[in-house]
Amino acid sequence: MKNIVVSASRTYDVLIGQGILNDAGALMRERISSGTAVLVTDDNVNALYGDKVENSLKNAGITVHRFVFPSGEQSKCLEVYGRLLNFMADAGLTRSDALVALGGGVAGDLGGFAAATYMRGIKLIQIPTTLIAMTDSSVGGKTAIDLPGGKNLCGSFYQPHLVICDTTAANTLPPDVFRDGCGEVIKYGLLKSPKLLRHLEENGLGFDRDYVIYKCVEMKRDIVCKDELDTGLRQLLNLGHTIGHAFEKLSGFTLSHGSAVAKGIAVMAESCKNAGICSKECCDRTVALIEKFGFDLRGGYDFDSVMSCVLSDKKRSGGNLTWVVLEDYGKSGLKTGSTDEFASFIKSGVLKWK
Ligand code: GLY
Repeated sequence: MKNIVVSASRTYDVLIGQGILNDAGALMRERISSGTAVLVTDDNVNALYGDKVENSLKNAGITVHRFVFPSGEQSKCLEVYGRLLNFMADAGLTRSDALVALGGGVAGDLGGFAAATYMRGIKLIQIPTTLIAMTDSSVGGKTAIDLPGGKNLCGSFYQPHLVICDTTAANTLPPDVFRDGCGEVIKYGLLKSPKLLRHLEENGLGFDRDYVIYKCVEMKRDIVCKDELDTGLRQLLNLGHTIGHAFEKLSGFTLSHGSAVAKGIAVMAESCKNAGICSKECCDRTVALIEKFGFDLRGGYDFDSVMSCVLSDKKRSGGNLTWVVLEDYGKSGLKTGSTDEFASFIKSGVLKWK
């Protein structure tokens, strides 16, 4: 088992290893004094790992109350959040107790936000079971639910007290969900790791999961420790996301997040090549890597529709737009400008992958 220590507003361990789900209770007990925990998970993950984690916590002397919600983004809503808070109140959870979020991004975001707000904050343990959650969302403290007006509109920065990442959980993911997570993994390589990119090029979907998850968490740790509140450097994690979010919205959210990000990265690579920010070789290798992972880059959206989505997102952030540019194969940077500047920069990429 490996341990990555994150030192942000809270210092915590991210434990990474094979089969450590079985030891979740003992690993938690060694670090956290809570005697009672609410275990929050969706119905899919519950069927796979609910009993295993609950038994492990109980064997470590922790009283468990299990809250199971329907799987899917639609559960990241006020109604399920309200039910969860009431469930915790009815179970008599106190400020010294804990919430264990077991699952992918929805469990982590919903559970994380409930932990951040119940009694003004209780202990939070993240146990990610999807590749996206293992490599990205369980670390760094972003928690949120969606509102009818948009995704993640209600949330907080709330660092977990512990992350337990059992890499073997990735083995039970349906192939399309696993590939979806690879969009974010490729993103990490492009941000700052030519070595990770080479490993992905050489191994494709058969990459060494322990190595890749460890490298991604290490990179995320470095970024979060420098910019916990997402006011600068952390925005690098949005590579491919500005356009990716527009693709997701235009598809009516039938396009998965990872596929949308993969398309967004291909658009960005083309635009960066045409603007002379990266080389043709960098752009070609980026696209070839995305395709090697089986992402379908054909069938984008028309430029005006994409830009109107970007503009509606921008209204929420106010001011100028910051976007992430690919400078080299394994090196990215930030650029800030007006929406008009972004539109003229990104146009060739959107048209190329239309
Ligand atoms: N997933 C992006 C971030 O944590 O900032």
